[in-house]
Amino acid sequence: MPSLQHVLSVRQFDKPRIDRLFARVREMRGNVKRGQCSILGNRLMASLFYEPSTRTRLSFEAAMLTLGGAVVGTESAGHFSSVTKGESLEDTVCVIGGYVQVIVLRHPERGSAERAASVSNVPIINAGDGDGEHPTQALLDLFTIEESFKDIGRIHVVFVGDLKNGRTVHSLARLLAMYDTRMSFVSPDSLRLPDNLFQEFVAAGCEVREHGTLDEPVDEADVIYMTRVQKERQAKGGCVAGDGSDYALTHDLVAHMKKTAVIMHPLPRNSEIPTWFDADPRAAYFRQAKNGLYVRMALLEELLNPFPE
Ligand code: NCD
Repeated sequence: MPSLQHVLSVRQFDKPRIDRLFARVREMRGNVKRGQCSILGNRLMASLFYEPSTRTRLSFEAAMLTLGGAVVGTESAGHFSSVTKGESLEDTVCVIGGYVQVIVLRHPERGSAERAASVSNVPIINAGDGDGEHPTQALLDLFTIEESFKDIGRIHVVFVGDLKNGRTVHSLARLLAMYDTRMSFVSPDSLRLPDNLFQEFVAAGCEVREHGTLDEPVDEADVIYMTRVQKERQAKGGCVAGDGSDYALTHDLVAHMKKTAVIMHPLPRNSEIPTWFDADPRAAYFRQAKNGLYVRMALLEELLNPFPE
């Protein structure tokens, strides 16, 4: 299996690569507990974030530090870096690549991670490119699902909310399509999954459905993947498609969920998941966020210290 040069899209991951990565993620989790993970000493990671982030940036930085490496970075790069002086993403990446061994990039434009990778002499990790992809989030989501359901091909995953702009949805659904997972997409009409993605899943022979409300698929769902409305990606001056409260979990919906269901959210949440649900054993979102540390540790290792062929 050729080693990864960059992490740009979930399309780079087939099942054998995912199996190998997840085996390493489990080892990383054990190593963190035992305090034995200093394998990337003398390596430096740059976090270059042009959009806000809490979990992704801090879990990447924690992952690198836990692996014994070091971190430099700029938060709000669009305001505080040389971009304010007119520097292009390409120039910024070329320069930073002279200082560090890996760059984690979040940027508001779809395709920005590919652009960065095309000029970079160090690995680029796509930490979210506009409404495009968020591959590392999708991998930690899939890992969380696999921890609950051994056979991902036999479950029913229901995505809810802003499926148009939600890059975590785009990446995770692509991964699940590889496993022939049954998928339902619940959103207001204005925030439906992009048609090209839906057609990609139909052409791949996946069982996919769209619904206007969660009432319809709720009682058959094994995983309910909630998302917030991405207000920052609504067209300027255009109509904002509500705050998502029409798509929130209610006591009635919860009463219809399977006892074994798993409720996920990439976070941050708005009103989609009320805090009263947090104590329910089916709430998986904080566990999901924690898995981000181990998955990102394994990815950093793969890029900087590749597994033997
Ligand atoms: C998501 C993102 O940035 O795409 N958050 C995350 O990385 N965990 C989801 C979101 O912002 O709604």
